[in-house]
Amino acid sequence: MSAPGAAARPDVLPLVPAPRRAVATPGDPLHLGAATRVVAAGGAAAVGPLVAGRLGARLGREVPVRADDDGRPGAVVLRLVPGPAADGGTDAGGPPGAYRVTVDGARAVVEAADADGLRHGAATLDQLVVRTPDGGAGLRRAEVADAPRFGWRGLHLDVARHFHDAATVRAVLDVAWSLRLNRLHLHLTDDQGWRIEVPSRPRLTEVSGATAVDGDPGGFFTVADLAAIQAYGAERGITVVPEIDLPGHVNAALHAYPELTPDGAGVPPYTGIEVGFSRLHADVPATAAFVRDVLADVAAMTEGPYLHVGGDEALTLGADEYARLVAMVAEEVCRAGKTLVGWQEVARARLAPGSLVQVWDDREDLSAVADAARRGARVILSPARRTYLDQKPHAGFPVGLDWAGTVELRDAYEWEPADVVPGLPPAAVAGVEAALWTETIRTRDEVLTMLLPRLAAVAEVAWSEPGRRSWPDFAARVAALAPTWDEAGLPWYRSPQVDW
Ligand code: ACM
Repeated sequence: MSAPGAAARPDVLPLVPAPRRAVATPGDPLHLGAATRVVAAGGAAAVGPLVAGRLGARLGREVPVRADDDGRPGAVVLRLVPGPAADGGTDAGGPPGAYRVTVDGARAVVEAADADGLRHGAATLDQLVVRTPDGGAGLRRAEVADAPRFGWRGLHLDVARHFHDAATVRAVLDVAWSLRLNRLHLHLTDDQGWRIEVPSRPRLTEVSGATAVDGDPGGFFTVADLAAIQAYGAERGITVVPEIDLPGHVNAALHAYPELTPDGAGVPPYTGIEVGFSRLHADVPATAAFVRDVLADVAAMTEGPYLHVGGDEALTLGADEYARLVAMVAEEVCRAGKTLVGWQEVARARLAPGSLVQVWDDREDLSAVADAARRGARVILSPARRTYLDQKPHAGFPVGLDWAGTVELRDAYEWEPADVVPGLPPAAVAGVEAALWTETIRTRDEVLTMLLPRLAAVAEVAWSEPGRRSWPDFAARVAALAPTWDEAGLPWYRSPQVDW
C-alpha cells in the first residue's frame, strides 16, 4: 500500500524536511509578479541574490534586490533578528540555522538570527511557491517556525570512480540546499582516479586524472574549480568537505608516483570496482612527504574547517601499520589547522578530541566508535542500509550496487541516528550524511535519480526531531514536493511506496 499522494491531500504544505511548526493560513496565495522584489539589508544582504535568483528562475523574470523597504505589497523581506525569537518561539536551543517564515496577503518575511537560518528559510519559501490557475505563480500563505536537530546534515558525492563535473556538482548543491543540508563531502580520490589538482604533486592529475571505472573518461577539478564550487556552496550555506582517501584506496596515487611503492616500480592503473587492495607503506621513505604535501595543499585550498582523510577499507594493512599511517595523516591535518573527518575505521587510531568519525558499515562491531566518542570524537551517521543512495532502491533497478541490500525510500526514512552505534553518548552525534558512490553512476541524470527522492528522506532524518516525523506524513509531503523537481528538470525515482 502506498501512502496517500498530493492529489488526495491538496491541503498539505510541501515542506521537506518537516518543520517544527507550520500552519497553512487562509487566503489566496501571495501573488508573484512585476511587484515582487527581495528586500534585504545589512547582514541579510548576503542572502538576497540567492532568494532573488531562485524566485526569478521560478517566475521566468528578473527579481530585483533592494536595501530599502518602502512598505508596498509584494516584498519578500529577509531580516536578521537577534536572539531566540528568530525561530518563532520554538526555543530551538540546538545548532544554528533556526528561522521563521510568514507569508500573508501582502508580503513574505523570512527572519533568522544568522545568515544560514535565512538560507534555510529561503529554501522553505521556495517550497511554498505554487502555480496559480491563471498560469502565474504565488506563495502559499503560511506561518513556519523551524530549527534543525543536527548541525551536520551532509551529502557525500564520489567523483573519483566516475568524474562528475562542476555543473553536476552545482545541480547537486541546489538540491542539497533545497533540503536544508549544509555539507557537501566530495570523495576526490580513489583507486580509479585522482580528481583534485595538487600543485606540489602535479602528476596526480596529469596521470591519474585521466582514468576512471571501465576506462570511461576521467577529469579533475583545478584549484580554481574547487574555489568556485566552494563559493557556490557557501552562497547556499553548504560547506564543502574534501576527502583525500588515505592510507587505502590509493592506487591512483601509486600509479602517478611509483616511489610510493616498496620497489619503486609503481602499479598499473585500476579500472575495476573491487576495494581494499591498495595501500600506502609507512616505511617507504616517500610516504611521509607525500602525505604532508598533499594534505597541506588541499588544506590550503579548503575554505571550511574540515578535511576528510578516508581511512576506510585498507584491508591489506596490519593494525599497527594502519595506526601509524593514520597518526601520520592526523598530524598533518592538525598542522594544517583543520578538523579531521574519517570513516569509521579511523576510530581504531588515536584522534584529536573533536575529530569526526563517520559510521558507514553498521554490520561491523562499532565499539571502537563508541570508545572514540568517549575520548572526545563526534560521530556522523551514514549507515549504508539507510543512507547509501548508490544502493539500488529495488533489485531490478538499472544502476547502483546492492552489497548492503536494497535501499527503498522508506528504508532511508524510518531509522533513528541515535540508535545506530550501541553505547554511543547521544551528545556525540554530530549528524547524518547520505552517500552517493559512483562505480555504476556515469551521468548527471543518474546522479539525480539516485538522490531523489531518497535524499529528501535522509535530509528529514537529519533535520527533524523524531516527534515530528512519520512515514505517512512524509510520503504526502514528498509527493506534494515532487512537481517542483519536474519543473526544475530534475529526474527522480517514482518509488512505488508513495502515491505520487
Ligand atoms: C565506504 O563505503 N568504503 C566508506
